[in-house]
Amino acid sequence: MASDDWAAMAAEVYGSFSPGSPIKLQGDLAGREDQAGRLRGIVLSSGEHALIYGERGAGKTSIANTFHLSLHSDTRRIHSIHVNCGDNDFSAIWRKVFRRVKVESDAERRSLDQFYPETITPDDVEIELSNFRINDIPIIILDEFDQISDPRTKILMTETIKSFSDHTIHAKIILVGIAGNAGELIAQHASISRALKQVQMPRLSLAELEAIVTTRYKRCGLRSDDEALFQMAFLSRGLPYYAHLIGRHSALAAIQKKKVFVDVEDVFLGLQEAIKEVDQTITEAYLAAIVSQRNEETLYEPVLTACAPAESDDLGQFQQAAVSAPLSEIAPRKPAYTPTTFAFHMNEFCEDKRGRILSRVGEARNYRYSFTDAMMQPYVIIRALQSGRLKRATFQKFIARRQRSLAV
Ligand SMILES: Nc1ncnc2c1ncn2[C@@H]1O[C@H](COP(=O)(O)OP(=O)(O)OP(=O)(O)O)[C@@H](O)[C@H]1O
Ligand SMILES: [Mg+2]
Repeated sequence: MASDDWAAMAAEVYGSFSPGSPIKLQGDLAGREDQAGRLRGIVLSSGEHALIYGERGAGKTSIANTFHLSLHSDTRRIHSIHVNCGDNDFSAIWRKVFRRVKVESDAERRSLDQFYPETITPDDVEIELSNFRINDIPIIILDEFDQISDPRTKILMTETIKSFSDHTIHAKIILVGIAGNAGELIAQHASISRALKQVQMPRLSLAELEAIVTTRYKRCGLRSDDEALFQMAFLSRGLPYYAHLIGRHSALAAIQKKKVFVDVEDVFLGLQEAIKEVDQTITEAYLAAIVSQRNEETLYEPVLTACAPAESDDLGQFQQAAVSAPLSEIAPRKPAYTPTTFAFHMNEFCEDKRGRILSRVGEARNYRYSFTDAMMQPYVIIRALQSGRLKRATFQKFIARRQRSLAV
């Protein structure tokens, strides 16, 4: 191929992978058939609304953007309005929604919010949203619901959903937010469990992560082998954001070498660029967690690095003892580490002064740890591989162990 063709292929790769933005087309979404099917069922069932919740970066906004696209028909029109709540109160959130609803008034098209110069109440919302014709279904998506700090706003939202359900308003409310369970997001969630159906967004499987990469490679005229695909999917730890980021940079590394076949070497080469593109908030949180008083060598960074490949359960939780083995390889020393050597560091990682980079549950002596932000764990591994702190051989060893445990 001529150099223009390689440049065109690189441009295609940039366009195909979208680490920076949620998915907007149904065909671009890997997996999620169950969740999308459930959400469509909720929209078509009278009196039901939905709460989409899950870890940061799991793909909540992407499913909210796309699940309803196939519901359009000759007799049914879907009007989706998607707003981010931010730290706003009830009235401000619904004002954002009303600004996106156009109404004809005195032969003039105005937005609905102009009719509400003052506060917008739950009753105003109910009245306005009951005005739609039966074949026009508004779907109001209130995203980033976790950002709301005002408890009263949450209570009013619960009341609104309850009255929508009781009065069978056919407009639908979909709440979306980062949470481990519904109770973290919703006020009095038990009282609206019949009206507000919970749809959890789990991490993607290895096969689904591989599909994110292969479908896009195919589009760009690229190929890859099983080993490289496995590494990309494994490094992503179930989070589609990383599959996009690593898939993109592995491809660019191959294209730079004028190859259309992406192999394991390209994956590891691609990490060097991928790490530079990772969300700045993650880099900052990492640096805040490992900081040392006088810039001296401490165990904070090695211990945090060793937490990332530590053997964990289905919930991503690991015990302190599981950190010893990777730590011995990352920062070898004699005598070997025992959990007491680094108990202090693990404790501090759970405290405010180190940004609570780890969370801890259970009883003393039997604590189970996890990364508080799901996006952090892949970052720690990628950063350590890229800096050489984590040797590829060590990484492979832990992958091999996990592969075996997956095979049992
Ligand atoms: N099923 C999927 N298939 C392919 N790519 C996906 C899928 N789900 C999400 N993505 C991609 O993953 C990234 C994160 O997705 P998204 O923004 O929807 O997650 P989120 O859960 O809303 O994140 P946040 O918690 O930060 O709001 C985006 O780059 C998006 O393009
Ligand atoms: Mg989102």
